[in-house]
Amino acid sequence: MSETGTPTSVSRVTLARIMDDGDANLHGNVHGGVIMKMVDDTAGACAARHQRGKAVTASMDEMVFLVPVRVGDILTCQAQVNWTGTTSMEIGVRVTAQRWDDAAAVEHHVASAYLVFVAIGDDEKPVPVLPVAPETADDVRRGAEALIRRESRLARRTAIKARRAAET
Ligand SMILES: CC(C)(COP(=O)(O)OP(=O)(O)OC[C@H]1O[C@@H](n2cnc3c(N)ncnc32)[C@H](O)[C@@H]1OP(=O)(O)O)[C@@H](O)C(=O)NCCC(=O)NCCS
Repeated sequence: MSETGTPTSVSRVTLARIMDDGDANLHGNVHGGVIMKMVDDTAGACAARHQRGKAVTASMDEMVFLVPVRVGDILTCQAQVNWTGTTSMEIGVRVTAQRWDDAAAVEHHVASAYLVFVAIGDDEKPVPVLPVAPETADDVRRGAEALIRRESRLARRTAIKARRAAET
């Protein structure tokens, strides 16, 4: 998009859907897996828009569900690219819920999720990801926090590999 990178706003995506009976778990609330799929779908669209090409989910950080989502809630997922590396990018997704028939109802923050997507070519191998250009102070903060999460992901992966290698 430019020499300095693609502005964050170019690939921001919002996906919203009313939760119905088919989304419910055995307790009558919305199944966590339904929410996770919508998070992955939203992040995937954001990654593809940013890259203007193929990108696959490499990982999703642990997700904490802060409040239950109920049948009849409008579930909304908002995704943006927080950070780009060599071939990978972190997508942040904010999930909220609000009653479908009451515009004055409180919008609840349900969860925040962080996913790593890797840009791939036709041979399914990683290719360089386009750089993202943060536009606001919040975008810059999210980028700095994404780097902290990346370091902790890589450190955990390296430590587990080292532990396994030591066992053999
Ligand atoms: C994701 C995938 C393309 C990575 O391929 P790979 O050959 O292991 O790639 P590399 O080790 O070179 O890593 C590529 C990038 O991904 C990052 N990465 C790889 N695994 C990761 C993980 N578990 N967590 C976070 N980042 C990861 C690396 O840090 C690297 O980032 P960088 O280039 O920005 O520094 C490959 O593992 C894959 O195809 N997985 C299946 C993806 C899929 O099908 N997803 C759909 C859901 S099932």
